[in-house]
Amino acid sequence: QKNIRILAYESSCDETSTSIVKNGTEIESLIIATQIKSHQRFGGVVPEVASRHHIEVITQITKEALAQANCTWKDIDAIAVTYGPGLVGALLIGVSAAKAASMATNIPLIGVDHIMGHIMAAQLKDTIEYPALALQVSGGHTELVLLKSPIDFEIIGDTRDDAAGEAYDKIGRVLGVNYPAGKTIDTWAHQGQDTFKFPRAMLEDYDYDFSFSGLKSAFINTCHHADQINQKLDKYDLAASFQAAVVDVLAYKTMRAIKEFKPKTFILGGGVAANLGLRERLNREIAVINQDHHLKVIMPDLKLCGDNAAMIGAAAYNLYVAGQFSDLNLNADPSLEL
Ligand code: KG4
Ligand code: ZN
Repeated sequence: QKNIRILAYESSCDETSTSIVKNGTEIESLIIATQIKSHQRFGGVVPEVASRHHIEVITQITKEALAQANCTWKDIDAIAVTYGPGLVGALLIGVSAAKAASMATNIPLIGVDHIMGHIMAAQLKDTIEYPALALQVSGGHTELVLLKSPIDFEIIGDTRDDAAGEAYDKIGRVLGVNYPAGKTIDTWAHQGQDTFKFPRAMLEDYDYDFSFSGLKSAFINTCHHADQINQKLDKYDLAASFQAAVVDVLAYKTMRAIKEFKPKTFILGGGVAANLGLRERLNREIAVINQDHHLKVIMPDLKLCGDNAAMIGAAAYNLYVAGQFSDLNLNADPSLEL
């Protein structure tokens, strides 16, 4: 059987990335040009700055991805690109680069949903058995997704307000942590205790939706109140208390969905999937139900939790196999939904 090589682009936010993925599972090259330093002094991603950085590097990292994999365009079977959701200007750079490459080489084009990419990062680690359930947690999204096949997705739960990663970044700002704050808060959380007992929203609701804005406000109010009375709060306990509330809610709803939908595989995906507290908690709870069931668990390597083009190449392979190609009318769709 012929090997299928996909050259993939990802430029939806603040990383410009290219990758060559073989048969949807094997990374032959992966380049990630991060712009985080340029955004840090603004405390978040500045869309215009992001687009400019993407333009500056995208041609160069296309050549690097080919060189690193020892490939020429002749070895490539499809060109994949994230076309949404994300920042429109940022997405447009990747979409334009991919379309130009496809037009110049006559290699077919495949548009990929960024969230589908985060979930399919799992495919780079292990074989997904279907039906699968994914908890996709990133800076822009917090969703529970049911997968009937590699291309058939149903969102069963979503955030009503802030995404989990966004909440990490916002409370990080209050604690003086550079954007993106998730990793530092996670580290601090392991050095403190859940002494503040922040609210766990929507636990009693019988659906799979999330809400993190109440937790964020409770956290900010606690810090402001302490400031007013010149009280110094322990940053490690604050981080531990915040993380305990986030992980409690994510784990509770995920475990309930696992019990109801009985998937064969559980997948954790998105930038917040790098959270060690969340990984430990889910592994522990799933180990308990696995005393009589066998639920396969796939958590991508930490490096592949954040935005990268390899996950886009993995998802694109599934679309390739299903014959779902795009044409040159492909356009950036900032609010694309699965
Ligand atoms: O998936 P991603 O790279 O970009 C989006 O598609 O949004 O996710 C970035 C988010 C940021 O909010 C960042 O703070 C968060 O992932 N993050 C973490 C950790 N590492 C990154 N959040 C919690 N714990 C972590 N270890
Ligand atoms: Zn992402």
